[in-house]
Amino acid sequence: MKLVLIGAPAAGKGTQARKLIDKYKLAYISTGDMLREEVSKGTALGLEAKSIMASGALVSDELIIAIVRERIKADDCKNGFILDGFPRTVVQAEKLDELIGSVDKAIYINCPDEALLKRITARQTCPKCGASYNKISVPPKVPDICDVCGEKLTQRKDDTVEAGKARLETFHKQSEPLVDYYKKQNRLFEVDGMIGIDNVSSAIFAELGD
Ligand code: AP5
Repeated sequence: MKLVLIGAPAAGKGTQARKLIDKYKLAYISTGDMLREEVSKGTALGLEAKSIMASGALVSDELIIAIVRERIKADDCKNGFILDGFPRTVVQAEKLDELIGSVDKAIYINCPDEALLKRITARQTCPKCGASYNKISVPPKVPDICDVCGEKLTQRKDDTVEAGKARLETFHKQSEPLVDYYKKQNRLFEVDGMIGIDNVSSAIFAELGD
């Protein structure tokens, strides 16, 4: 099964991806995580991506397509994968179709901007194990400490009000057209992202089946 997750920043793509990989045993590909890793390693790619990501804009289609093209060749992708945050433009979606034929389902998690901005600024992540929390909806048991590994939680550089607003604008201009793109292919499944994490998962599982 080849799935893509579409949604504005903080819609819950990463949260749902983790549940989907557990259930369907798929490889997980998050272009945002891959870019953040390059930034933290200080590679040439990371240096190029750092300021673009902090501003809320998108890195170039060419660059991200080159990364995904290589990643989906890996062994763990042979039984299927979930792409979280790719494609983000119609050019990327067309390229993906060229590379893999077509996706089985594009899952669009739909949320209003106002709620997303609140989620963005309340998000905390664990720099060690990658667990994600939210001060409002998914707080850690001990404030600022990861439940899983005890590490001090951090906030992403682009999870500020200013960068959050820019990311939402980028989504509406450059990524929202993907909804129509996959609707026309009859591959779109839209789910309300405001119904609670487990309800969102149940709706997606019901659509995908066993
Ligand atoms: P990326 O890392 O993909 O960021 P994003 O799309 O902005 O998405 P987020 O990670 O912020 O949110 P999410 O939808 O995964 O939500 P989450 O599950 O964490 O990309 C970062 C940057 O990299 C981009 O801005 C761009 O510059 C670059 N980039 C990446 N891919 C690219 C591409 N293809 N082309 C070009 N550039 C690219 O949840 C958010 C919070 O809400 C959490 O705290 C969570 O606990 C909570 N939450 C989740 N679901 C719910 C719910 N149902 N109810 C209540 N709370 C919830």
